[in-house]
Amino acid sequence: MPTPVIIDTDPGLDDALALFIACASPELDIIAVTTVAGNIGLWRTTTNALKLLHHLGRDEIPVIAGSAQALRRGAIEAAPIHGEDGLGGADLPLPERRPLATEASEWMARELLRRPSHSVRILALGPLTNVAQLVESRPDAARRLAGIIAMGGAVREAGNVTQFAEFNIAADPEAASIVFGSGIAVTLVPLDVTRKVLADREWNTTLSAKGGKVAQTAQALIEAYLRNFEARVSAKGKNRGALVQPFTPKFPMHDPCVVLRAIEPGLFGAEALALRVVIDRSERDGATVIDSEAGELVEVLTRVDSGRALAAILAKLVALP
Ligand code: BDR
Ligand code: CA
Repeated sequence: MPTPVIIDTDPGLDDALALFIACASPELDIIAVTTVAGNIGLWRTTTNALKLLHHLGRDEIPVIAGSAQALRRGAIEAAPIHGEDGLGGADLPLPERRPLATEASEWMARELLRRPSHSVRILALGPLTNVAQLVESRPDAARRLAGIIAMGGAVREAGNVTQFAEFNIAADPEAASIVFGSGIAVTLVPLDVTRKVLADREWNTTLSAKGGKVAQTAQALIEAYLRNFEARVSAKGKNRGALVQPFTPKFPMHDPCVVLRAIEPGLFGAEALALRVVIDRSERDGATVIDSEAGELVEVLTRVDSGRALAAILAKLVALP
């Protein structure tokens, strides 16, 4: 029996790839795609989710918009790396259908109460705002989750928006803290592993040579990321943005690692760590630190078989139409 999953996402170039891989995985029953502000504003992430599912021929999967801003902080500052439309300018048609006329955390709650307890998992690919809203507004429903696999954090290495913090956690640290402390089984997929699953241009050429229409789109999304990053590296002044790490022309498979963990958990090694989210508006704001006294126990992925992970992603993408 496939696992029912809700994909909570802010597409986003790597979110798009994660959606593609999920749709190529019979192990998963995608019961909804919920959207959150993150890489770009909510209207865009929702529009992008509709476009991506249409491109995949999966218009039957409901799309529900969630939060337009972080839980306690207002607007989330988008990362320029995903392009002005969040999809690197990919020319994908918008279907006629609209998102469901409800709100993501309310929809999640209704669905969790309707289905057998501990049958549904959330795959969280963006800031954890919607999931934290569910935990705060409907703890009875949230407790029925089988678990959450979330891309976020940098545990034993540098962040990507600052030296200390990773984007999804930094965008809404209060939400992350609420989710970690919720008592729900959380698996965190941090930069410590996602930065090791890197697609270079050679990999990308193989993808486009072997695959169909969706693989061509995936190839274009990866190339858009590489070009945006190259433009930033050569830009001057504020267009350069906060470049925390040295640039190499490789695409990190952040969000796809969440889907891989759901379908092929053995690709990763995990540790149970007591994690605390720094919420103090200092330069360390949004960091995920190991703190055996004040931290919450989270399963953290700390090792990955990069070669097998990349091969699995390639196989899924080329299997799509
Ligand atoms: C995360 O931030 C976003 O830019 C990506 O989509 C990914 O979810 C990586 O830090
Ligand atoms: Ca994302």
